[in-house]
Amino acid sequence: PNADSTKGKLLAVYEKAQLFYHHILVNTKAGEEALNYLIDRGITEESIETFKIGFSPPKREALKMYLENENLSETDILKKSGLFSDRDDDKFYDRFTNRILFPIMDAKGHTVAFSGRVFLENKDDQRRTAKYMNSPETEIFNKRRILFNYDKARPNIRREQEVFLFEGFMDVISAWQAGIKNGLATMGTSLTEEQVHTLDKVTDHVVIAYDGDSAGLEAIKRATEFITEETHFSIEIAAFPEKMDPDDFIQSKGIDAFKDFLSHGRDTLMSFLMKYHKQDINLSNESDRLKYIDKVLDELTRVTSAVEREMYLNQLAENFDLSTESLKEQMHGHIVSNQ
Ligand code: CTP
Ligand code: MN
Ligand code: MN
Ligand code: MN
Ligand code: MN
Repeated sequence: PNADSTKGKLLAVYEKAQLFYHHILVNTKAGEEALNYLIDRGITEESIETFKIGFSPPKREALKMYLENENLSETDILKKSGLFSDRDDDKFYDRFTNRILFPIMDAKGHTVAFSGRVFLENKDDQRRTAKYMNSPETEIFNKRRILFNYDKARPNIRREQEVFLFEGFMDVISAWQAGIKNGLATMGTSLTEEQVHTLDKVTDHVVIAYDGDSAGLEAIKRATEFITEETHFSIEIAAFPEKMDPDDFIQSKGIDAFKDFLSHGRDTLMSFLMKYHKQDINLSNESDRLKYIDKVLDELTRVTSAVEREMYLNQLAENFDLSTESLKEQMHGHIVSNQ
């Protein structure tokens, strides 16, 4: 956009803010504790540069003063930037204080928002505020559209002809350090139509690698429903064990185990759903077993390939010592009732 337009000015403010926060983290005493926190979590100095991570100092007017020195103090623009909370009329306070900041960039690599993580071991502090706090939506930041790391991952996604979808910043960055450079984060929310549209331009092959906790499994379920209804993507699922997220997995099992899991630990959509529906169900209980079979048959009606359907029906028949014929018959009941 034109440098004199509102968008152009907002981009300029975010660019300066990103440089400022990064400088505080890397070069100042004020950033030392935050830097140590990141290094303790295994983040390398190289990644801090690549992802331009920063730190917002505790002082409530640090960014305000810096931007004034840089002659970026147009009240209207500062208000629109979402970088300040203006409690009373003319007083601007920095929105981000005492947080590690992950810049969120648009497709061209321009910073359009930040997400700030608390890191102090002060438990009171963590309870009072959300773990991550984000910039509000602005003329340059539309949360539904953006995917974290899209700018850097795009050429790698094209080359690998697949994309890994993670939940969070630390997952993307740890994976990047492990050599997996075609990963993006949906940043906690479930995948949106706009994000799918963006992905559609670069690949047709999506590997969902969300957290292995129950929130993650639910998010996978929602994303898969959406992807199959709206698009022609092929999806695979890497469901992490023991409630771990990808970053936890790398920290506890190492890079080789992580890469091995991402290439050989994938489920097809149907085998993920077969596992998903087993949660909270006691398969030694007869009525639970029937419920489970019914749920799986219902999912199977959405599988368009006859060969695949047959394969899962056979698997189900074998697991529950039933005939494939009776399962087929029951499934046709679902097809009719779904019409
Ligand atoms: N998130 C958010 N606001 C929150 C919590 C989470 O925007 N209050 C987003 C962040 O993008 C975060 C992602 O959702 O990275 C996944 O959340 P979660 O799994 O809870 O956090 P982690 O990414 O695992 O964070 P960390 O490893 O730093 O604890
Ligand atoms: Mn493909
Ligand atoms: Mn999570
Ligand atoms: Mn997580
Ligand atoms: Mn995590």
